[in-house]
Amino acid sequence: MAPYQIRIFGDPVLKERAADVTDIDGRLARLADDMIVTMHDAPGVGLAAPQVGVQKRMFVYEVPDGDGPHTIVNPVITESRGEWVYDEGCLSVPGLSFEIVRPKEVHLTGLDLDGNEVSIEADELMGRLFQHELDHLDGVLLLERLDKVQRKVAMRAWRERTMGLDADRLDRSHLL
Ligand code: NI
Repeated sequence: MAPYQIRIFGDPVLKERAADVTDIDGRLARLADDMIVTMHDAPGVGLAAPQVGVQKRMFVYEVPDGDGPHTIVNPVITESRGEWVYDEGCLSVPGLSFEIVRPKEVHLTGLDLDGNEVSIEADELMGRLFQHELDHLDGVLLLERLDKVQRKVAMRAWRERTMGLDADRLDRSHLL
């Protein structure tokens, strides 16, 4: 069983800005391990701490064909370039995904669980994942990245889904 239950859209914890991590210690490593198990169990390719109710700036991820899983602490996107459309989903908004335009490539810096600096150049899925998880740390859900029309459709779909209609029309490979 997953150590955590993933928080779902509507939970106020998903709207708060998470705090910087001040101590990289055994407790944080345990949190990361539990988040990775929770992410695998979902299954998804990325999970940010606020999604399990912990207001810390860290996320875990594991993309197909990448080595991993990985944990990034206090991440910052220092550069972004280009434009890319991706059918983006979120474990906190299960059952829905949206074509969202965001920068195609980003440069991410942060710390690993040993406190070493990491510096990663990422594009396409990994670039999207980093931007999506950073949003979670700032209390932003992908629904806020939609235009007005998309958002209206999304809210209707969400209401239908939460009423139990259209359950599990879900391609999990897109869940970040
Ligand atoms: Ni998400």
